[in-house]
Amino acid sequence: MAGRRLLVTAALPYANGHIHIGHLLEYVQTDIWVRFQKLRGHRCIYICADDTHGTPIMIRARQEGRSELELIAEMQQHHTRDFADFEIAFDHYGSTNSPENYELCQRFWRALRQAGLVVEKEIQQLFDPQAGVFLADRFVKGTCPRCGAPDQYGDNCERCGQTYRPTELRDARSTLTGATPELRTTRQLFVHLEALRPFLIQWTQEADHVPREVANYLMGHFLHEPLRDWDVSRPAPYFGFEIPDSPGNYWYVWFDAPIGYIASTAAWCKLHGESLEDWWMNPEVEIHHFIGKDITYFHTLFWPAMLKTAGFQLPRRIHIHGFLTVDGRKMSKRDGTFVLARTYLKHLQPVYFRYYLASKLGPRLDDVDLNLEEFVNKVNSDLVGKVVNLASRTARFVQGQRLSDAYPDDQGLFARGVEVGNEIAAAYEEGDYSRAMRAIMGLADAANVYVETAQPWSLQKDSDRTAELRDVCTVALSLFWQIMVYLSPVTPSLAAKTESLFGKKISRWEDAAQPLTQTAVGTFQHFLQRVDRKDVDAMIEESREPIPAPTYQDSDAPLKAEPLAPTCTIEDFAKVDLRVARVVAAEDVPQAKKLLKLTVSLGGNERRTIFAGIKAAYKPEQLVGRLVIIVANLAPRQMSFGVSEGMVTAAGTGGQDVYLLSVDEGAKPGQRVH
Ligand code: MSP
Ligand code: ZN
Repeated sequence: MAGRRLLVTAALPYANGHIHIGHLLEYVQTDIWVRFQKLRGHRCIYICADDTHGTPIMIRARQEGRSELELIAEMQQHHTRDFADFEIAFDHYGSTNSPENYELCQRFWRALRQAGLVVEKEIQQLFDPQAGVFLADRFVKGTCPRCGAPDQYGDNCERCGQTYRPTELRDARSTLTGATPELRTTRQLFVHLEALRPFLIQWTQEADHVPREVANYLMGHFLHEPLRDWDVSRPAPYFGFEIPDSPGNYWYVWFDAPIGYIASTAAWCKLHGESLEDWWMNPEVEIHHFIGKDITYFHTLFWPAMLKTAGFQLPRRIHIHGFLTVDGRKMSKRDGTFVLARTYLKHLQPVYFRYYLASKLGPRLDDVDLNLEEFVNKVNSDLVGKVVNLASRTARFVQGQRLSDAYPDDQGLFARGVEVGNEIAAAYEEGDYSRAMRAIMGLADAANVYVETAQPWSLQKDSDRTAELRDVCTVALSLFWQIMVYLSPVTPSLAAKTESLFGKKISRWEDAAQPLTQTAVGTFQHFLQRVDRKDVDAMIEESREPIPAPTYQDSDAPLKAEPLAPTCTIEDFAKVDLRVARVVAAEDVPQAKKLLKLTVSLGGNERRTIFAGIKAAYKPEQLVGRLVIIVANLAPRQMSFGVSEGMVTAAGTGGQDVYLLSVDEGAKPGQRVH
């Protein structure tokens, strides 16, 4: 299928934080796909932008004591630099806070109004009286109204998956100030999505617009019953675009963010003399969105509904990926696995990450695990050991020379590589990069076997065999070239080094079908260092956020009430024989106000009877079976109910304020306390 036109987007990262390796999964995945499409000769543009609006940006700007505009401008710089350094090549990287976006938002809005889909309703919203802002869903936490899970965000429950309004949470509090939010009534604008349900059912279920498992999920969770109206406005104060026909109300960030895809395209069009309609209203253009699974709902329900209403082209496909985990766990600041792009770059090469990700990414929504051990091994064995080695072991023998005039007999290796190329291309197209990487490494294995067998290093020692040596290097370097063409969407920097080694551009997929006959070989410079585990560890260390030492504020009352006893010697202390004992029976002494009668075991058949003044604090049944510490050599004492043969140790002032001493797991009755 030659001559396709593709418009590809990755989700617009929030401007309130730095890019981390989790984000990079998406931008790298998309970048690989775009580079692949371009290499195949299709017309393809990669569009992205910063997502700049919403309460979090407003709050962060306030906390930093500067304007939102200053904050988002700075973030945009950080983001673009991080992306560029990871070899992510956008055709345009815009901002949702742009005149193009404002204009397009109005266009969508007019269309929704004209279609009669905007409804106004009074709703109750949570307001943080301390911060003076209405609370976005993410700024409210409380107990899930469905399953009772504590500490859930205001939009959905992580335990049971229920979605709800923040006002439905139980024991809600503001995550900004901890204040209990107040309910305030405001007039808000909603999109009546239900009217579009028949369309959404059709669109989500047909033509692979979304992955099959997502289509089923949408049907089972949302589309089988009337859709709720979608609340698209937010009351001031809010950082965003004010709604022209509803002063004091702003478009919710998730209204203007996806429109940002179009706005960023519009900005690109202006720069390149293209027409926006020709990209977004042209059925010949395939629109592909790449997103993470957490934002599925916005892209598969709201966004198609908006596009449909405003007469824009619908996406050909929404590609959805899972989350990046590190060593099998969610990225965490405490573990040092919440690694920022910048921190990564201080320690490691971007190509390692790109290759490793490619080797793990499939077309499904499963999470992708960055296993640090595997990361080191895979990059070293595949990229350095198999691919780069092919060139480094042969290029130096023909440096500054031309390769053979005719392509030598290679037992069909190169031709087979051309064939496998179709399989590799199909895998890229489907987003099955791991399959593509396996096929490429298969070719590299075969090429290395060839080099091992041909032994160019032995040929080099023999001056009669220079022609043969040249032939062997021609084969090895042609196979290397072929592999680098296939790998180039993943490893652009290595592809560039390959180009300069041979003075030849990798510009088309078909370049892999042309062996390097007669090609002048330049000087071989180092392609790639092996990954050093120490650098990985240093990166994790630098990313680790120290666990704040808890601050204890204990009262000084106990010590004041009972000051310390005079100093004693170790010998004095040794006179008191403290032992671990197990309570084997406990009963009330009805005649005594405070006493319980305990039978304790010191192991074997050693039993003691002890009367303990703990009746107000413990019930007999709470004691049976537990270990206590007793004074075992206390002189027996005759009491009116019997003889007490020791004492159970406890802290506290008496009455209910009594706490038996416990001992850690593993201690055995009879053991002495030293
Ligand atoms: N601003 C919204 C997207 C608006 S699109 C119109 C947003 N931003 S985000 O910065 O939170 O995330 C950007 C993308 O990165 C999302 O697709 C998200 O799924 C992805 N990821 C964020 N953390 C991730 C991982 N740990 N792993 C994989 N992808 C991750 O959502
Ligand atoms: Zn729940």
